[in-house]
Amino acid sequence: MKRLGVNIDHVATVRNARGEKHPDPLNIARKAIKFGADSITIHLREDRRHIKDEDLKKISKLKIPLNLEIGCNQKMIEIALRNKPNFICLVPEKRRELTTEGGLNIEKNFKKLKYFVKKFKKKKIRTSLFVNPNKKDIFNSKKINTDCIEIHTGKISNLIKNKKNYINELKKIKQCAKYANSLGIEVHAGHGLDYKSTKVLAKIAEIKEFNIGHFIIGEAISIGLKNVIKLINKIIKN
Ligand code: PXP
Repeated sequence: MKRLGVNIDHVATVRNARGEKHPDPLNIARKAIKFGADSITIHLREDRRHIKDEDLKKISKLKIPLNLEIGCNQKMIEIALRNKPNFICLVPEKRRELTTEGGLNIEKNFKKLKYFVKKFKKKKIRTSLFVNPNKKDIFNSKKINTDCIEIHTGKISNLIKNKKNYINELKKIKQCAKYANSLGIEVHAGHGLDYKSTKVLAKIAEIKEFNIGHFIIGEAISIGLKNVIKLINKIIKN
């Protein structure tokens, strides 16, 4: 059965717009699980533009599966190890980007990634690398010994949203998912996903987990968190 991870970063974005306590990501994390999410994802960015250290501290104490996204630097690794989330996804991070714009540069960061993955695995934390859909990065991810990869789906999501031809990108993602699976790496997908793109990618058997944030939180304003989680689960789990 495929799993749904709900990224609640943008609950914190709305809260921070007023500098007050509402809406509380902790509360929404609990609700998302109650409504059918399999895990909660938060990204503690270096500039703390949405999730804050205090959110991580509180949410990691809940008895719910937590996936922490972090950039690859020593300070973040130490914070992650202190809070011990169930899962960690290493992502590239640039200060000026609106969101995570692409996958990791695996070759350039090979040594560092291998060292961090080893540290997390020692603490029994499931590790994932956010990668672009290309086979070389997946081959190197295997050498890094990661448990999982998350394929960056930003490009295909944009093509689908803009009604452009997405067949080549879909082929690439399919081939990469199969290749990673054949190497014993669990495959996840995330970024920019909505109902349509999730439906297209849910047909790929090797993708075991979807991590979706902005669309779910945005759609929740219109139809409620319970309804949007129900609809997305129907797409990925049937
Ligand atoms: N997966 C990863 C690794 C991400 O960095 C993000 C964005 O924080 C997401 C999934 C969720 O993307 P979106 O908010 O566009 O659904």
